Amino acid sequence: MLSTKLWLGAAAIASMALMASGAAAQTIGFSQIGSESGWRAAETTLTRQEAENRGIDLKFADAQQKQENQIKALRSFIAQGVDAILLAPVVATGWDSVLEEAKEAEIPVVLLDRMVDASDDLYLTAVGSDLVHEGRVAGEWLVEEVGDRDCNVVELQGTTGSSPAIDRKKGFEEAIAGHDNLEIIRSQTGDFTRTKGKEVMESFLKAENGGANICALYAHNDDMAVGAIQAIKEAGLKPGEDILIVSIDAVPDIFQAMAAGEANATVELTPNMAGPAFDALDAYLNDGTVPPKFIQTESKLYTQDDDPMAVYEAKKDLGY
Ligand code: AHR
Repeated sequence: MLSTKLWLGAAAIASMALMASGAAAQTIGFSQIGSESGWRAAETTLTRQEAENRGIDLKFADAQQKQENQIKALRSFIAQGVDAILLAPVVATGWDSVLEEAKEAEIPVVLLDRMVDASDDLYLTAVGSDLVHEGRVAGEWLVEEVGDRDCNVVELQGTTGSSPAIDRKKGFEEAIAGHDNLEIIRSQTGDFTRTKGKEVMESFLKAENGGANICALYAHNDDMAVGAIQAIKEAGLKPGEDILIVSIDAVPDIFQAMAAGEANATVELTPNMAGPAFDALDAYLNDGTVPPKFIQTESKLYTQDDDPMAVYEAKKDLGY
């Protein structure tokens, strides 16, 4: 008996055969953004491993950071009649048409790690962290760390138009609001990459008296922070001391930087989004169980006090 309100109105007809036989999904298309960061590499590795462990035929498409490639991949998955689609959407807008096509074809779509600006009728569920909360945690850490000191902050944003860039900015701004001693003096995208993080940090340093005016860097991911650390060192300053560094993801390299005293704090984003996604799809395709619209993963703050070298050792072989 299909009790809960089904995502596709009455039962998903295309899934009925699977439901009746009690079989799990066999073929799942995964439209991945690309490989812009260590975190993204780990998500890809873990998704492939999870699929293999569960006997799922995973059709993987790397979009090279382009939404048009993701839309093409989704259309190709639909044409192939996959059982379900995983989508890590590079930006938040522009998904309505292709998600409607998937819905018409009665193929459930699960969003991974980023959200879309579209009706939630168009996807089965989304697996991810509370991105605003992550930004807030980073901001609260900085507020606490600087106390009453005046602190000019520079911000490296993620990919323009992506939900983590929008939400992590919002959360951080919320956390520092009301603390007049903290001010974001420069904010620019570094596109979630090391190269751009370094490049943009170099321009921040030049524009701000060689870095003398900068008290802290907030980077929307660790890769940009790692690039920025390099730029700060090349400018003759000490990252982690002259300029405090707080970022998001908790990739192994940031723990090495923390162990060396060159980074101060990171907020963890688990790369295992596929486990909960496949569980939700399994239940849905087996007996019609409709998952909640959002399956939230944990966010944890790490600082230099958390034995960064031990965390590095624990994470270094996990596919980052
Ligand atoms: O959507 C999650 C973000 O995308 C990660 O924080 C970042 O590293 C990645 O590229």
